[in-house]
Amino acid sequence: MSRIFSGVQPTSIPTLGNYLGAMRNFAALQEGNECIYCIVDEHAITVPQDPAEIQKNIHNLAALYLAIGIDPKRSILFIQSEVPCHAQLGWIMQCTSTMGELERMTQFKDKSKGKQAIPAGLLTYPPLMAADILLYQTELVPVGADQKQHMELTRDLAERFNKKYGEVFTLPEPYIPPVGARIMSLAEPTKKMSKSDSNRKATIFTLDSEKDIIKKIKAATTDTEASIRYDRESKPGVSNLLDIFSLCTGRSIDELTTAYEGKGYGAFKADVAEAVVATLKPIQERYQQLIGSPELDQILDEGAEKAYEIAKKTLKAAEKALGIGRANR
Ligand code: TYM
Repeated sequence: MSRIFSGVQPTSIPTLGNYLGAMRNFAALQEGNECIYCIVDEHAITVPQDPAEIQKNIHNLAALYLAIGIDPKRSILFIQSEVPCHAQLGWIMQCTSTMGELERMTQFKDKSKGKQAIPAGLLTYPPLMAADILLYQTELVPVGADQKQHMELTRDLAERFNKKYGEVFTLPEPYIPPVGARIMSLAEPTKKMSKSDSNRKATIFTLDSEKDIIKKIKAATTDTEASIRYDRESKPGVSNLLDIFSLCTGRSIDELTTAYEGKGYGAFKADVAEAVVATLKPIQERYQQLIGSPELDQILDEGAEKAYEIAKKTLKAAEKALGIGRANR
């Protein structure tokens, strides 16, 4: 039995990449583990957000977490900003980090590129993420491949703190799936599928209609070779569709390439689209039942309470180790 923690930003409806790379595993890991899942709204505000929009996205994401199978009787589901220990340990983690290591983070470099005024929160995003994880003495963190560097930093910060002030934090391991850790853009398959892509054809959102999913996959960039083989280097578009197809059906890449030998891209894409629709449909149906239900608030209230009970102990231990506040309180 392991302690699991992960989070998703309420910046829009999660994408197929978020689902296949991370959220699907959140549900699966509930079996035999102690899981804590978070709506990381404080991370979302590292770039400007519309208040009404983020408020809506928080509720939608809570409903989606439940719709993908997060069971509030077994797992804790809560909103980051409702447990103040995150911001508090986040500060301590900032004080444990150096500018150099934060400036080296590829996500910081990508997101700050070309910006005149770079929000300081973009730089200090990773120490807050470290705090999220370390507060719960987490052992395993299911994430996509793009979070590998943040996970390494989290381990470095925990180790640095423990060495200097005594053993306070458990060192967490990332759980990055062998397939699906990096679902690519449908329009530019050498780029990651992203919520914020300005090209709407690049990204499938988990709540997209059947019609939109079919349209987007039909329009997905492939190549002129007309052969269905897996080769990430020379056939990134087809390989990405094969990954998606395999994850949505449970069929191996080998099995799929054999089954589609000699077939055209049209028939292949139609079947990939059908598999994606079949995967997302039951989630969408559950989502529609849950959204707006009063039960949602109760689950989030209870989640925040339970999370706080665990988090406050680690925060206290870290403050005591540092000698801040009054140690006897
Ligand atoms: P977010 O909301 O950007 O992404 C949520 C999860 O989805 C994964 N992901 C992908 N996986 C495969 N293919 C893709 N194209 C793709 N795009 C996104 C991400 O790797 C992530 O696992 N920093 C986190 C949020 C966070 C967090 C944490 C995660 C804050 N604190 C503590 C774990 C533990 C993020 O990127 O969220």
